[in-house]
Amino acid sequence: MAATTTATTERSDALVLFGATGDLAHKKIFPSLYAMAAQGRLEVPVIGVASSVGDDEFIRDKVRASIAELVPDADPEVVEGLIGRVSYVSGDYREPQVYDDLARLLEGTSNALFYLAIPPVLFDDVVQGIGRVGIAEAGRVVVEKPFGRDAASAAALNDCIHGVFPEERIFRIDHYLGKESVENLLVFRFANSLLEPVWNRNFISSVQITMAEDFGVGSRGKFYESVGALRDVLQNHLLQVVAILGMEPPAGADAASLRDEKVKLLRQVRTISADSYVRGQYRGYADEEGVEAGSDVETYAAVRFEIDSWRWAGVPWLIRTGKDLAMTGTEAIITFNAPPRLLFTPDGAPEPGPNYLRFQLGKGDGVKLHLHAKKPGEDLIPEPIDLEVSYAEALGHREDAYQRLLDDAMDGDARRFGREDSLTEQWRIVEEILDHHEEVHLYASGSMGPKEAGRLAADVGGWIDPVASAGTS
Ligand code: BG6
Repeated sequence: MAATTTATTERSDALVLFGATGDLAHKKIFPSLYAMAAQGRLEVPVIGVASSVGDDEFIRDKVRASIAELVPDADPEVVEGLIGRVSYVSGDYREPQVYDDLARLLEGTSNALFYLAIPPVLFDDVVQGIGRVGIAEAGRVVVEKPFGRDAASAAALNDCIHGVFPEERIFRIDHYLGKESVENLLVFRFANSLLEPVWNRNFISSVQITMAEDFGVGSRGKFYESVGALRDVLQNHLLQVVAILGMEPPAGADAASLRDEKVKLLRQVRTISADSYVRGQYRGYADEEGVEAGSDVETYAAVRFEIDSWRWAGVPWLIRTGKDLAMTGTEAIITFNAPPRLLFTPDGAPEPGPNYLRFQLGKGDGVKLHLHAKKPGEDLIPEPIDLEVSYAEALGHREDAYQRLLDDAMDGDARRFGREDSLTEQWRIVEEILDHHEEVHLYASGSMGPKEAGRLAADVGGWIDPVASAGTS
């Protein structure tokens, strides 16, 4: 049965974090809470929930440790102000006691935000538990990715959550949507009139997106075994980048207009076929903590597909992502058609390659336009040059994605969150390759993945490696 309570535009008056002792809480959520507190945007109770036995001091120590490690020069007054709001509920998520304790702590509040930073297998129990004690009435729920394992499980998950929370109070988080660098793609495309006339199949020869990480799965082996690169980042983060790069201009900046255009684009993306998918695994992955011996889980995924629309027909789109690669960097590269041979250059002079626009989306984000200029000297020989901008230098400090998204969810602002229909399309795009694929190809740590991926990009001039990320943003 679908939940019927109405949406509220009031800011949430409590924050409940399930999975408070987890990796995500430590690395992203606690530092974001600090940043919100520093801006006076977190004047509500914060309740951590987890299965580890402990009292309020237990979770407060974890918040302090996270901030000490990850927030340089944290203001002690802000830290203690935040700590004073934090309390803890411990117990088994399948037991009613957790929700009874939570309900007691939430007395006097009316629209808490429940953040589920927990494995998807627990969503059902937690959502039912919240619903049973009546604390979901006007509340909101944030659900971490990956949202399900395929279209069917995502639909089941939607049904389960809809039983307690209506769609307008469900916030499916994909932190790439909260990144300033990713949102910038929208403004860069639609606020610069020189791009739109060339942003199509007549001028663009291919689009590549690479998300490379120079580290392995670390302590997340057990989680990673249940997802692999395709479900961990490609189906969500990277398809969202595709949607933003490929979509038509939205009718407005409201959540519905933005999400409508994105889902329209995703519907036009062809389902990826098994022969357009290359999987890899870094040597040594099988020895990581929490990883099954002989695991066939991919730590590298590369795909190629087309988009059936008037704007994009015939343009190959290539995406790859991998762990333990040569560098860390996330880039979307738009390659334009190559110019004709320069008739006035001397024989044997290099022909100019294509121009490309390189959007750097990770740390040290910015944009580079790859052009040609005259090489100094007698002859008219082209020399490649880059026009480049670092956003940190040009635009100053930008807030972290998690901070922005948490703040949005507290406000009930859904613009930067995934909608049910979009998630369904994202699963549809990868559905044929989720279970039907070749075995992983092993690749060396510090390489750019298995050489087999080269065939996907052979006719577009090969994969273009990202520039290693630097900087802080
Ligand atoms: C997460 C994935 O969603 O995104 C991780 O689970 C990945 O495996 C991370 O490392 C990358 O995020 P970012 O913001 O560092 O590019």
